[in-house]
Amino acid sequence: MIKTVFSISTLVAATLFASVSANAGDPAVERQALMKLNGAATGVLAGMVKGQTDFDAVKAQQALNVLHGAALGFGYMFPEGSETGANTEAAATIWSDRAGFDAAVAKYISDTSATITDMDSLKAAFGAAAANCGSCHKAYRTK
Ligand code: HEC
Repeated sequence: MIKTVFSISTLVAATLFASVSANAGDPAVERQALMKLNGAATGVLAGMVKGQTDFDAVKAQQALNVLHGAALGFGYMFPEGSETGANTEAAATIWSDRAGFDAAVAKYISDTSATITDMDSLKAAFGAAAANCGSCHKAYRTK
């Protein structure tokens, strides 16, 4: 499991690096890959919260850090011109209400910056982070 989380973190770093270092990539494809990693890291946290996997503070922190890394990069992945294509589910509201979207990203960054030391702090961090998924998707994702 540690290995999985490590490779997820590495992939996020690589994705972020690729997206800032080269414009050749399609932003819609990159942000979808980043969101898939969000899903995977959320699965790690949810498994521990539900007791399906043993609590491990290091693994939990790494998974939260993956969400945080994704949050930090997310605001840059919706440039003008990437409204369509790549089967994007990005809603038009991202571009028509950029201030609102930026605020949602800022909230997500802040809600994924906790320190996890025990089960209580994991539950608090997971609850705070996961609340962002639904609220942002409702406002800024088409499904
Ligand atoms: C600040 C807004 C925002 C937050 C917060 C957010 N998402 Fe997303 N998510 C999006 C948008 C926008 C898309 C559509 C991207 C596209 O298709 O271009 C998306 C797409 C996805 C996808 C589909 C990716 C694909 O395969 O196309 C998954 C899975 C996902 N999000 C999971 C999550 C999870 C899990 C969380 C919380 C831990 C989360 N998201 C938090 C905005 C957000």
